[in-house]
Amino acid sequence: MTVYGIGLGPGDADLLTIEGKRLLEAADTVYASGELSQSIAADHVPAATIEELSFPMTDDDEQLRRAWRTAARRVAEANRVGDVAVVTLGDPNVYSTFGHLRRTLDVLYPDVEVEVIPGVSAATAFASALGVEIEAGSGIALREAIDGVAPVGPDRLVLFKVTDAETTAEKLAEAGYDVRFGRRLFMEGETVITDDPADLTDGGYFTLAYAEKRDLDREFLTDEFRTEESQSDELRTDEFRTEGQR
Ligand SMILES: C[S@@+](CC[C@H](N)C(=O)[O-])C[C@H]1O[C@@H](n2cnc3c(N)ncnc32)[C@H](O)[C@@H]1O
Repeated sequence: MTVYGIGLGPGDADLLTIEGKRLLEAADTVYASGELSQSIAADHVPAATIEELSFPMTDDDEQLRRAWRTAARRVAEANRVGDVAVVTLGDPNVYSTFGHLRRTLDVLYPDVEVEVIPGVSAATAFASALGVEIEAGSGIALREAIDGVAPVGPDRLVLFKVTDAETTAEKLAEAGYDVRFGRRLFMEGETVITDDPADLTDGGYFTLAYAEKRDLDREFLTDEFRTEESQSDELRTDEFRTEGQR
């Protein structure tokens, strides 16, 4: 019997992996934390079968440890009688409460077998949603930017937990970055993509930012296709000819 940490993906229920869906449907007990995870999971298993696993948003260390111990005990008990699915938004190993649960299980219930099923993380899903290409050869860093924090340094940054977009944007602009925000990406009918932080004044939790240093040097082999000769029909069809025809 196994505890599966299953990544649900960024919001759209269709972005759950096939393996995640198979294990979720087969689990004897399903735990989810938060409304959003519950509603995505409910697209795959009956809502009434999903149990809430509570992870409080607090800075009180003792309260947090108590919640993790309680969650680990519930999961370990359920695991005595069957497979357990613990679903998390995105990927379970990327800035996720699942990490606290897994570490607590490792220490307090070392016999419990835990397996992680990766999900599409906002760490990569943002790129498709915002139309950003992280080109081969370039680097990108993940950081958190809660309460107006603005980490700087790398050429490209994905910032999670952006709760004060205006302050973060201001600081990043001063440090020489262009910034774009994505809120509730892949969540039906609710997505906001903007470079204007004034569109995001209410501090909604599911907001990330992509920051890129202004005037980055970019050279691609495909730049050659922009030359005049390359625009000719002859070159456009060249690849379809055999050697003998050229
Ligand atoms: C606790 S982290 C969870 C990350 C998740 N495990 C993942 O891999 O994407 C929550 C933060 O992830 C970002 N996030 C997750 N899903 C998102 C989405 N669909 N749209 C925008 N931001 C998202 C937000 O910055 C949010 O504050």
